Amino acid sequence: MSELSAIVLAAGQGKRMQSALPKVLHLAAGRPLLCYPVRVAERLGARRVVVVVSPESEAAIGEMLARAFPGLDIVTRVQREARGTGDAASAGVGAVDTPRTMILYGDTPLVRPADIAELDEALRADDCPLAFLSAIVSDPRGYGRVLRDASGRVTTIREHRDLVGPAEHAVNEVNAGVYVADTAELVGALERLSPENAQREYYLTDIVADLARERRVIAVQGDPDALVGVNDRAQLRRAEQLLWARKATELGQRGVTIRGEVYVDDSVSVEADAVLEPGVRLRGNTSVGSGALIDVGCVVTDSKIHAKAELLPYSVVTQSEVFGGAHVGPFSHLRPGSTLEMGAKVGGFVETKNTRLRPGAKANHLAYLGDADIGERVNVGAGVIVCNYDGFRKHRTTVGADTFIGSDSQLIAPVTIGKNAYVATATSVTHDVPDDALAIGRTRQQNKLGYATTLKERLGQAAKK
Ligand code: UD1
Ligand code: CA
Repeated sequence: MSELSAIVLAAGQGKRMQSALPKVLHLAAGRPLLCYPVRVAERLGARRVVVVVSPESEAAIGEMLARAFPGLDIVTRVQREARGTGDAASAGVGAVDTPRTMILYGDTPLVRPADIAELDEALRADDCPLAFLSAIVSDPRGYGRVLRDASGRVTTIREHRDLVGPAEHAVNEVNAGVYVADTAELVGALERLSPENAQREYYLTDIVADLARERRVIAVQGDPDALVGVNDRAQLRRAEQLLWARKATELGQRGVTIRGEVYVDDSVSVEADAVLEPGVRLRGNTSVGSGALIDVGCVVTDSKIHAKAELLPYSVVTQSEVFGGAHVGPFSHLRPGSTLEMGAKVGGFVETKNTRLRPGAKANHLAYLGDADIGERVNVGAGVIVCNYDGFRKHRTTVGADTFIGSDSQLIAPVTIGKNAYVATATSVTHDVPDDALAIGRTRQQNKLGYATTLKERLGQAAKK
C-alpha cells in the first residue's frame, strides 16, 4: 500500500481567466488542466487523491474526474470560500490517512511524476517535515520567491505581492507549487496559518517559514518548464505549447518521425515509424499505426489510422477509421462513421459520412458519399453525389463489388446497385440496379449542324440592345 496521498487544489476562482468555465476545466492539449496533476498522483501510486473544489464547481469537476479516472480513489472536498491555498489545503487534509501527503495545484499541468518522486525521496532521506519544488527562472514575476539565509537554507516563500525591496524582487528562484510533507507536520502547520499578507489570504506557502523555524525544509530545484502555472489565457497558451512540445519529444524518442511543428494531444498514441508532417493536429482518442503518413496540415479527431495508411495534405478525419494501404486526400473530409478498408482510396475534395469503402474501392475526385456501403474494387467517378437526405430522413445506398459508377452520376437513396454493374456517366440512379446491368439515364444529345454561328450572332445582337 502506498504511504502517499495527494491533495490537488482546484477551488480558486480563476478570475484572471475571465471565463464562465472553472479554470481547471479549461482544456490544454486536449485534457482539462486538472487531469494533469491528478494523473501525476495516479502514476506515483497515490493511495487517494483529494481534490479541493469550490461549491460552484463541485458537480462539474466531480463528473469530469469520475469519467477520466474510473479506477482511482478520488474524493472531492469543498472549500466554501476561496480564502487562499492554505485554507484549501486545510479543507482537503482531513481526507488523507497516509503518513505523507503531496500537494499539487490544479493549474500547473507540466509537473511530472519524476519531480515529485524526487521530493519524496529527499523528504525520507533527510527526515525533514517538508520538501517542495522550485526552479530558477528568467522572469519570476507573479510567482512566490524562495528566500534563503546566508548559509543557503530555505527560510520562507514570499509571494510576489508581499515582496519587500529590490533584493527580494531580484530573487529568481521561484516556488513551483508542488510539495511533499509529513502529514502530521502538515496538519500542525496548516492550523497555525494566519492571513497576514497583502491579499488577506491563508497562504499554503507560509507553512515553509513555519516548519523551517525548527527543522530543515528542502527546496529541490527542477526544470523551469515544469512549473508553468495557468492563471490567464496567455499562460494557458504557453502551457499548451509546452505540453505539445513535450509530446513531440516523447514520440520522437519512440521512433516517430516528426517534421516541424505538430500539435498532438496528450491522449493520442502514435507508433514507431509513423511520419507526422508540419502542422498536423491529432486530437482526442486517436491512434496512428506504424508506418502511417499524416501529411501537412491534417486534422484528425477520435480516429484510428492503421499502420501504413496515408493521409495526404490538409485532410480532416473525424471519428473514422482508415486501414493500411488506404489513402485520403489531399483536401478531403472523412466525417463521423467513415471507414476506408485496406487499399481503399478517397482522392482530392471528397467528402464521406457514415460510409464504408471496402477493400480497393476508389473515389478519386470530387465526390460526396453519405450513408453508403461501397463494395470491393468499386470505382466512383469524379463528381458523383450520393443524395442521402430528403430533407427529413437519411437513406442508405449500397454498391456491390466491381461496379463502375460513371462521373457526374447521382445515386438517389435509398438505392441498391448490384455487383459488377455499370452506371453510365451522368446518370441519375433513382431505382435499384441489378448485378451485371448497365444503368443509363440521361437525355439524349442532339447536334444542330452549323447552328453555333447563327446562335452566337443572335446572342450578340440581343446583348447590344
Ligand atoms: C501559487 C503560489 C506561488 C507559486 C505559484 C505557482 C500560494 C499562496 N502561492 O500562486 O508561491 O509560485 O502558485 O504556480 O500558494 N486555490 C484554491 N483555493 C483558494 C485559492 C487557490 O483551491 O482559495 C487553488 C487554485 O484553484 C489553483 C491553485 O490553488 O489551482 C493555486 O492558486 P493560485 O491563486 O493560482 O495561486 P498563484 O497566485 O498562482
Ligand atoms: Ca496559479
